[in-house]
Formats: sequence, C-alpha cells, structure tokens
Amino acid sequence: MHAQIEDLRQRASADIGGVRDAASLEQFRITYLARKGAIALLFEALKSVPASEKPSVGKALNELRQQVQSLYDARREKLSTAGAAKRHIDTSLPPRRRWVGSQHPLTKTLDEIKSIFIAMGFAVADGPEIEDDYHNFGALNFPPDHPARDTQDTFFLGPTTLLRTHTSPVQIRVMESMPPPIRSIMPGRVYRNEAINARSYCMFHQIEGLCVDRGVTFSELKGTLIAFIKQFYGPNLQYRFRPTFFPFTEPSADIYITCFLCRGKGCRVCKQSGWLEILGCGMVDPNVFRAVGYEPEKYTGYAFGMGIERIALLRYGIDDIRLFFENDVRFLEQF
Ligand code: PHE
Repeated sequence: MHAQIEDLRQRASADIGGVRDAASLEQFRITYLARKGAIALLFEALKSVPASEKPSVGKALNELRQQVQSLYDARREKLSTAGAAKRHIDTSLPPRRRWVGSQHPLTKTLDEIKSIFIAMGFAVADGPEIEDDYHNFGALNFPPDHPARDTQDTFFLGPTTLLRTHTSPVQIRVMESMPPPIRSIMPGRVYRNEAINARSYCMFHQIEGLCVDRGVTFSELKGTLIAFIKQFYGPNLQYRFRPTFFPFTEPSADIYITCFLCRGKGCRVCKQSGWLEILGCGMVDPNVFRAVGYEPEKYTGYAFGMGIERIALLRYGIDDIRLFFENDVRFLEQF
C-alpha cells in the first residue's frame, strides 16, 4: 500500500505541471480527487489492509489526499487570476488620463501683477496677517472713531489685535524697518467681517504698493500706474482718475478703466456706468510719515492698493468669488 501511495503522489505532482486550462484541471480532479478517483479507490482498498497496518496506511493516505488537494487548489487559483487578468485588458478603452497640475487663477493674476512692478524696480515685501490696531489703523491716520474699526467690519482677536483688513499696515512696517528711498509692493491676504456671497468673502487678497523718496510727485504716481494698467489690461484702453478719500493718503484717487465686458456701453458688471474701479491710490499723508519717524518736509511718496479677486473675477469672467476657495478640481483645471 505504501508503495502505491508513493506512486500516486509522484504521478499527481507530475500531472499538475501539465494542467494549463480549466478542462485539464477538471480532468486532474476527476483522476485523483473525485468520488471514484484514484485516491478514493485507495481508501476503498484500506478496508482490506490488516488491522495492525491500518493506522499508518490511513495516515499516509490522508496526507496524500491533502497534498493532492492543495496542488489542485493552488493551480486553480493561478488559472483563475491569470484568466481574470487576461479578461480585464480591454485595448479599446481610451488611455488613462494624465493629470497635470496648474496654477491657481489668483496665483496667476498675482504673479503677473508682481512681474510688471518688479520690472519697474519695485521690491516685494510682506507682513503679518495678525496685526495690531496701531499698524492696521492708528499709524495709517484712521481717527479713533473710524467706522472701519467697528467689529461689524473687522475681525478682532483681542482688544487690540485683529486680522488685518488691508495690506496697508505693511507700508508702516516697511517704513519702520528702513529709511527712504522705498519702492515696494506688498501682496497678501486680508480679512473683513462680511457676509459671504457670490460677490464678497470674509478673506481675500490685495497687493499694495509704496514709493517714498525726495521729490516724488503725483505725476510719478500717475505715470507708474498708467504704465501698469497698459501692460496688464492692454495698451488701448481708457482710464480715469477720480478723487476719493483714504485716511492714509492725501490727495487720493480711485482708478477706473473702461468696462471690458460691455466696452463702456453699460452692463450688469459695471452697474451700467461703463467704468470699472480697479485700484485705490494717493500721496502718502504727512501724518503717516510722522507715525514712522520720516520727516514730511523732506520726503513725499505715493501708495496704491488693489484687490486680486476682483481683478481675477473680471479677467476670467468668473461669477462667484467662493469658487476661488473651494478647491474644486473641475474649476481649477480650467486655468
Ligand atoms: N488700503 C486701501 C483699501 O483697502 C487701498 C489703498 C492702498 C488705497 C494704498 C490707497 C493707497 O481699500
């Protein structure tokens, strides 16, 4: 009996190597493992083995059955994964898409603005988003009772700390850190306590500019900003300066360009005026120079500030400011 068992073991291990498909696998099963297969026949023969040998022959038979079963299982497993892999290659499918990263529309807009001013000799500076009342308001000549200081407009973190509401405090920090001449732009995030909707958000970006030296004039402000506008928006557009008020500049102006959506005819975006306000600017107020220890008799300067979201919304025809901050790939991949 032991010899027969050994013989069967060798035949089964030889046979399994030749099993390459489901049909030959089934043949293997029928030959060795089926109810009338070779192993079952040996179990049948076990009945006539002398009682003294039964335990050892029975044990060897059980081992044989287990070994052949695991040969069978392993081969079946291999055939089924090979088959599955084959079935899943569908050469008619389009190739998998390659994802290429792109720049956020705000980054793109900001980078373009920066490069224009850098080419005109401006350096880039930055400052903290958590500011104190003095840098955000006081040093910028805001009177103590100015409405911007209200908690309805400003996020206060403590009695005198707040999230900066504009990038103008960076002007103060730059002037505190060095004497004139200064030519800097200062991009960054700003925060305002506003209701969130398609047109406004509690956080956005501005870029500030500051130029201080002896004999800086309003003409220089105009020349610089017109040069910027022509490079950024195109050489043939119309612009206008309109007087306005900022506590930290005197005189002050808002710059408007012809609405490029309706070309000045009047539409929903320009509120039927034909003009879009794109920038605030003015000559640095002598009180601001006094706050940073510059002599107002000796130096003059100009400053300007603009909102990046507003520019990007107009430029790319986006109708909801919240899209910038949702990070939805379907939106971002369009840029
Ligand atoms: N800080 C002003 C604002 O937030 C913009 C500005 C900057 C105006 C510098 C004039 C000079 O609206």
